[in-house]
Amino acid sequence: MKNLISLFVFSLVIFSLVLISEKSAFNKTNSDSDSVEAKKKIYIDALKEQIKGKEQLPSETVFKDLQMLKEMPAEKILSIMDKGFSNSLGVSCEHCHNTEDWASNEKKEKIIAREMMKLSGQIRNMISNIKEIDSENASVSCYTCHRGQIIPATKPN
Ligand code: HEC
Ligand code: HEC
Repeated sequence: MKNLISLFVFSLVIFSLVLISEKSAFNKTNSDSDSVEAKKKIYIDALKEQIKGKEQLPSETVFKDLQMLKEMPAEKILSIMDKGFSNSLGVSCEHCHNTEDWASNEKKEKIIAREMMKLSGQIRNMISNIKEIDSENASVSCYTCHRGQIIPATKPN
């Protein structure tokens, strides 16, 4: 009988430990994505302030080292960085940037992102050459592959 009781108490302890750890894992993912959003907002608000009055000027005249994302209103760069890049990979700006110097190319992730833009462009061309596809604007974006992850899945989970 004594053994049974201690077994019961032991199971209760294990069970509550599992509950606690699941709960904290849940809170962790939640607050992680909250803090990513909060960080991005601080950077974007500061940059919006910095380009005030120049939002509609050609992007390449407002920023220092745009090699690909030229000939668009400067403000568009910020939404591409936020929605197009960061959200597609599920990261904040510092994954690709030294946030003290946005034009710097010191992070390999930024260099890779430029190559990824070329890769996406080539895939878009290939898709538009498949005459049998009915859609007018069949396309791929960063999100098509990344789906909120840094490393895209190669198989269904
Ligand atoms: C996946 C990588 C990646 C992420 C994440 C990312 N960026 Fe970028 N960013 C780039 C690349 C690549 C360029 C250069 C594009 C080009 O050459 O046309 C760039 C350029 C910029 C520039 C222009 C700098 C200059 O003066 O030349 C700014 C400003 C910028 N990003 C801000 C941000 C902000 C703010 C965030 C977060 C909301 C962010 N980026 C997230 C890759 C990234
Ligand atoms: C056709 C699918 C595909 C598309 C479209 C795509 N990527 Fe990728 N990306 C990959 C693969 C695969 C890797 C390599 C992952 C690994 O390390 O195994 C990768 C890696 C990366 C990395 C390096 C990840 C790291 O370790 O930090 C960055 C940054 C990146 N992609 C950004 C982008 C951006 C920005 C776009 C849109 C302009 C984009 N990708 C579009 C498939 C894609």
